[in-house]
Amino acid sequence: MSSIKNRKKITIQSFIQKKSKKKKITVLTAYDYFIASLLDNAGIDAILVGDSASNVIHGHASTIPITMDIMVAHTAAVARGTSKALLIADMPFLSYQPSIETAILNAGRFLKEGNAEAVKMEGGIEMFDTIKRVIEIGIPVMGHIGLTPQSIHKFGGPKIQGKKEKSKTYLMESALALEEAGCFAIVLELLESDIATEISEKLQTTATIGIGAGVNCDGQVLVTNDMIGLRDENFKPKFLREYANISPIISDAVEKYIEDVANANFPSEDESY
Ligand code: KIV
Repeated sequence: MSSIKNRKKITIQSFIQKKSKKKKITVLTAYDYFIASLLDNAGIDAILVGDSASNVIHGHASTIPITMDIMVAHTAAVARGTSKALLIADMPFLSYQPSIETAILNAGRFLKEGNAEAVKMEGGIEMFDTIKRVIEIGIPVMGHIGLTPQSIHKFGGPKIQGKKEKSKTYLMESALALEEAGCFAIVLELLESDIATEISEKLQTTATIGIGAGVNCDGQVLVTNDMIGLRDENFKPKFLREYANISPIISDAVEKYIEDVANANFPSEDESY
């Protein structure tokens, strides 16, 4: 890994360059200053302030309850810890679906108040007009198709998309529409690998970022809390690789602290004034 000072700032153009050179794009989520600075220093290409904050930070069962105000606050914190990575903010449920004007005003808040450089919106071909207009006024947009968690009740659970011909056609048409609208990237979530591969090959100027969509996407994204073991033990989808498990490390540290305080072993003389 090169020193952070020598690394180039990642922009939406970097995504397109990487895709054309067949270099994989790396994306992880962050919701706070400190984790963001760890990801940035490690050399991640982009940090997504995902509405998965609703689940992994706020303890909700879905991404539906999280609000604009909370997402903007997380984005501003992440921005303070990010210098080289592209900073993408996830637009929460009902912050962009009601009208183009709502979408522009809320996407703009992420840039003005959160210091984001791009926003992400869920939805396929039906979101074409909204996404196109937001991009036209100067806000880069990452699309998101496949299993879109804000529509979890419509899907009836985390079902793999692109199994049937009708679903494949919808996914391909949506990916092409989002490219035409000007999206610099599209998240492909929980897709059969063959359709994710076809979409990745077909798109010329839009990078595909997979999560549960196979190895042939132009890049990959994971929820950071999930890949470092900060999650419910029973949440273990097949696509998730656990790169570390810090939950027992935190539990151990807390148990030792409780014991030390209870036994008057903390603070020591050296730790006192
Ligand atoms: O909210 C999120 O973290 C996401 C990623 C899983 C792509 O949308």
